[in-house]
Amino acid sequence: MSFPQTRMRRLRRNENLRSMLRETRLAREDLILPLFVVEGHGVREPIVSMPGVHRFSVDMLVDECKQVAQLGIPGVILFGIPAAKDARGSGADAEQGVVQRAVRALKKQTPELLVMTDVCLCEYTDHGHCGVVVGEEVLNDPTLERLAATALSHARAGADWVAPSDMMDGRVAAIRAQLDEQGFEHVAVLSYAAKFASAYYGPFREAAESAPAFGDRRSYQLDPANRREALREMRLDIEEGADALMVKPALPCLDILADARRAFELPLAAYHVSGEYAMIRAAAERGFIDGERVMWEAHIAIKRAGADMILSYAAKELAARLG
Ligand code: PBG
Ligand code: ZN
Repeated sequence: MSFPQTRMRRLRRNENLRSMLRETRLAREDLILPLFVVEGHGVREPIVSMPGVHRFSVDMLVDECKQVAQLGIPGVILFGIPAAKDARGSGADAEQGVVQRAVRALKKQTPELLVMTDVCLCEYTDHGHCGVVVGEEVLNDPTLERLAATALSHARAGADWVAPSDMMDGRVAAIRAQLDEQGFEHVAVLSYAAKFASAYYGPFREAAESAPAFGDRRSYQLDPANRREALREMRLDIEEGADALMVKPALPCLDILADARRAFELPLAAYHVSGEYAMIRAAAERGFIDGERVMWEAHIAIKRAGADMILSYAAKELAARLG
């Protein structure tokens, strides 16, 4: 049956009807807020390229997370920015490291909040790469040990989930084995499985001071041109024991997310990354777009494509509006 018998507009006549027939809904429960933690006290430092996003010292982070929990956001993911960086990224698995201290404080002060940690070396290494570097090469296998030690130290501090974002081969298995061996079989691994070598990470690298000192991340992150390779990465991480998979960045990868939704049964996360957020905020500030509506549209599209969880810098403002 086609026009004039069929009229699609019959089902769009008023908001009551549209709301009843809405296929996808965004909920506060879908959102995870990424947070940057720095050393010091009383620090709440704005990040210039990400309006509304700050770096927090542990004490200020606790206040922020109390608000986050009150807004009904189920969880946060922490990124640490240490006071000092070195070649091996010693700060990544330091017992008194900035993330480890933050996790302990949050598990005490906001126990209802799910605490995830980003597991990577790039925020802690002086060369800014996500692994162990010899010459100009990022070595895979020696990095696994460092990542497993980092994940373990986060688990010891009380992290509920660890999220490796380094894109080394075999890291999920190495982390899972270490966690299980040390009695942290209840800690879940959210793998940044399909993580592309993306220019959309620019503002994050400014925020975390983690831009690589030489070269780029293309020898470990995925080529944005490759869809089948992304599916292979995800399949391998499932075999290695990942509990949930992430696709990153989000809007430029909706096809990957939709493919993954069809191919796999695990929970899927998508990361609406720093550049995606910054673009919307910058255009809105100049009056070129309605920032609130564009932000909502971006997130509903990510949900529609198949995400169960969305890591987003806009989580607080979205949650506040979702009521
Ligand atoms: C660290 C990491 C990055 C992001 C998350 N974890 C940066 C990178 O890989 O260069 C990007 C997040 C964002 O842009 O918001 N490996
Ligand atoms: Zn990294």
